[in-house]
Amino acid sequence: MGGRRRLAASLLRFSPIQSQSHHVPWIRLHPGQCWAPYSSSSVSPSAQTQLPKPTPRPETPSTITINGKTYPTDAWFNVPSNVLASTNRRLHLQKDHPVSITRQILESVFPRPTFRYHNDFDPVVSTYENFDSLGFPPDHPGRSRSDTYYINRETLLRTHTSAHEAALFSASASDGYLISADVYRRDEVDRSHYPVFHQMEGARVWDRTKVPNGDIAAAVYADLARLPTHNVKVEDPNPPSHPERNPLQSAHHSPAEAEAIAAHLKRSLELMVVEIFTRAKAAAAKQDPNYVDEPLRVRWVEAYFPFTSPSWEMEVYYAGDWLEVLGCGVSKQELFINAGVPSQLGWAFGIGLDRIAMLLFQIPDIRLFWSRDERFLGQFAGVSDNLDLLKRFVPFSKYPACYKDVSFWLRATSAAGGNTGTANAHDFHENDVMEIIRNIAGDVVEDVRLTDQFTHPKTGRRSMCYRINYRSLEKTLTNAEANELHGRVIAALVDRLGVEIR
Ligand code: DAH
Repeated sequence: MGGRRRLAASLLRFSPIQSQSHHVPWIRLHPGQCWAPYSSSSVSPSAQTQLPKPTPRPETPSTITINGKTYPTDAWFNVPSNVLASTNRRLHLQKDHPVSITRQILESVFPRPTFRYHNDFDPVVSTYENFDSLGFPPDHPGRSRSDTYYINRETLLRTHTSAHEAALFSASASDGYLISADVYRRDEVDRSHYPVFHQMEGARVWDRTKVPNGDIAAAVYADLARLPTHNVKVEDPNPPSHPERNPLQSAHHSPAEAEAIAAHLKRSLELMVVEIFTRAKAAAAKQDPNYVDEPLRVRWVEAYFPFTSPSWEMEVYYAGDWLEVLGCGVSKQELFINAGVPSQLGWAFGIGLDRIAMLLFQIPDIRLFWSRDERFLGQFAGVSDNLDLLKRFVPFSKYPACYKDVSFWLRATSAAGGNTGTANAHDFHENDVMEIIRNIAGDVVEDVRLTDQFTHPKTGRRSMCYRINYRSLEKTLTNAEANELHGRVIAALVDRLGVEIR
């Protein structure tokens, strides 16, 4: 899963059942954000004890207003102002924006009225909606304040669109739905990670009391027969379920029902990627007469999500590598039971829109989505109204990189004296470093990498060295400008994490 996840907690959080390396020349990809990062049930044995007790930061306001609604904060509050400021951007709804165009293309594969589109859900949800309603265990690392933006203990910025599943199952207003929305995660800094990104969630349900003779399998196969076919090569070598990891929900589903739902799910999602990659190829061929059309290859791999069983990830062969594009599965029946609709059953999926948009338009850096520069936005004019106008992005310029290193010692003392808001080897979390840098340098930071770390053999102190690449998307940075930013980053690391600069 690539060498980018460096700390044990992060590794555990994302450890998928299978492990591949994902690399395309211009985006460093790994099973991080942009699609399906909750594919792990494993919890660090000490995850609970490692979590520092939340202490309010001095600058914590007592209330916070997001999209017109005011929420009280408490000691859990950890949302920086640049993230708060993104909550009203709604790129997935901005006409002619690549994220919005990608949403439109995916929606076209799931037509009304079977599917209803929900594109306005507020990003503020309860901890219950985001985690508990989906069966996340209480000690799941995704719940930690180092991974998730909390407004208060019970309220957070949704980390995935699945947060709305339970409410939509309960409302039962359509046989299927799509939700597109902005989602928020504390994460590392590089060209494919941004604390705000976009997901599309989809689900299709059937009701035992409404299908002819109550025969779900027959009804699902009849619906499957009505879906278009495609001629893409799909590898699906694994058995349909796994007795321990991904069991058939035998208390609720017969093998024939689960197989029918899985078959409908797989065809539907294959059609979705076929649509995207067909459009990407058409755009490439239009712009490059020498473009060689490689046949699309798709494969299904077993995955784990707390709210589906069995579960899969879909991978697409792209630029020499298998690339994970979505997570999905047969929804856990508890979701329908808890939603008050026990006679329903079906499938669900989640896909990251930004990452798909990067592939579709060949956009090399996720920060570009947030740019208001006409040299970026102007390239997509008119596409929302006519998807056939889709073109690949033509980079307008690449400004020089400016690398600066920072090395520091973590505090040597233990956390026993209570949380002082500073970092020692026990409570240090890399996402805090990432966020401090992002807060100061904003979209001028392209990438932050841990280049070295070691523990002093005698003192036991831990040293870390990070290399920060300052590179604006819009202009050449002077060395003085980069130095000024770097100086502020160093001061903030000392102030906020209590580290000692080496
Ligand atoms: N919410 C998951 C994530 O962000 C993705 C996902 C997986 C959504 C499986 C689903 C699903 O609806 O069935 O990691």
